[in-house]
Amino acid sequence: MKQSPTADSRDLVLNELLLMIEDDPLAVELAKEALADLPVRVVTAANAARGLEAFSQLKPHLVLLDLHLPDQYGLDTLARILEIDPGANVILVTAEYSTEAAVEAIRRGAIDYITKPFPIEQFQKRISRWLSAPDRHGRNASPLSPFRWHGMIGRAPGMRELFSRIERVAPHYRTALVTGETGTGKELAARAVHDNSPVAHGPYITCNCASFADSLFESEVFGYVKGAFTGAMQDRPGLIAAAHGGTIFLDEVGELPLGAQAKLLRVLQSREVRPVGSTKSQPVDIRVIAATNRNLREMVAAKTFREDLYYRLAMLELPVPALRGRSEDIPLLARHFIRSCAEQYRKPHLQLELRALMALTRYPWPGNVRELENVLGAAALMADSDTIDLRHLPLDLGTGARATAGNALPTMAELNQQHVRFVLRELRGNRRQAALVLGISRATLYRLLREMGEPINGDPSSADSRWSLTSVSATE
Ligand SMILES: Nc1ncnc2c1ncn2[C@@H]1O[C@H](COP(=O)(O)OP(=O)(O)O)[C@@H](O)[C@H]1O
Ligand SMILES: [Mg+2]
Repeated sequence: MKQSPTADSRDLVLNELLLMIEDDPLAVELAKEALADLPVRVVTAANAARGLEAFSQLKPHLVLLDLHLPDQYGLDTLARILEIDPGANVILVTAEYSTEAAVEAIRRGAIDYITKPFPIEQFQKRISRWLSAPDRHGRNASPLSPFRWHGMIGRAPGMRELFSRIERVAPHYRTALVTGETGTGKELAARAVHDNSPVAHGPYITCNCASFADSLFESEVFGYVKGAFTGAMQDRPGLIAAAHGGTIFLDEVGELPLGAQAKLLRVLQSREVRPVGSTKSQPVDIRVIAATNRNLREMVAAKTFREDLYYRLAMLELPVPALRGRSEDIPLLARHFIRSCAEQYRKPHLQLELRALMALTRYPWPGNVRELENVLGAAALMADSDTIDLRHLPLDLGTGARATAGNALPTMAELNQQHVRFVLRELRGNRRQAALVLGISRATLYRLLREMGEPINGDPSSADSRWSLTSVSATE
């Protein structure tokens, strides 16, 4: 079995991440001891600057933030963290209890307040409560559950907004339009609308508009009667009739040919459907959810999508954000997919190495969640051991492509970093050889690695590495 090229292949990330921003080594030791039995990995940073950097890169599920840091007052650090992610879960930690400070911390957005030295049992209880906070339906199945809503995982502000919008509108809507790039989860969002609607127990019929030729649309969607055309041997209800009393989901509605658009509009306006070959219309009681990755407004301007149909559908628009704008969701999604791969491929101990996760969070994901799912599925198949690391990821991911779309062209510094990573991977992490190949001194290599935020094991000055990583518990 090959070992991961990096020195910290034991640092696996199936567990929740807890970032401890704390300059007192004793407090760190105590906390690690107390957390040893919980399904959590502890990452530490000894000052605010490093803590903030680790926070933005790792998007931990929980932050323990010391109020008195050498370089910044904790409440200011709290404000910075919440600027980066308004949904962050931060627990303030101080040496002595003060009611005013506790109240102030909560008022400013912390979720809890703890005094040190930690009474171990109480500390464990508080932390595990926050790690497995029940979701709003009172379910408490896994630490992921606070961030899972109707099968959709997300904690980024854009996703929370989507969840609460769906919750608000689902009881009332008649037609809705789910928009978003391909692979963002539009089908899941549509299903969540139905599941939160008054017809949740009625039928949910999916109609993929991309699959119809103009001529087939009518018979498939409206149904037909016996003898309507050659081959119509008996009456057949269409998809709309099947959705009576429930929801019809019109996926890829932007692909619908113009003729079919007109026919669909008629049904939406009259709430009646007439099967092909029939003289009688029958009333239908349906809710309609359409989805598209196309810009329908532009299609209207180009006259490839009917304006009247557009307005009817777009009365209520539910945009699903692209993955590149919500990298805090990547660790959660990765964890979710690793779990399903573990089941599917019968590798119950399948894990994702920390470095690989960091590469995932930096990549721009043009194919969104679906691409992430596919990349992890392929990596799970390729990994010969239970650990997915950088070697199992596609090259443009492993070398740390930038997440900012506008920054697609790398700078010299980024190219340097990519090249250093590449050489290190090729040499299975051997830094002495890497320095030789790169034509730089080992001291320079270590400096570069430090600048890249790579943990430096075996480096004489490793006390200076950005943050230290500790695998507290590798499996649950
Ligand atoms: N928020 C999410 N949480 C979990 N899985 C997701 C999420 N968003 C998308 N997926 C998964 O990603 C894949 C693509 O989602 P899908 O709804 O088909 O995307 P779209 O219809 O927007 O192209 C599916 O396998 C889906 O289960
Ligand atoms: Mg889709």
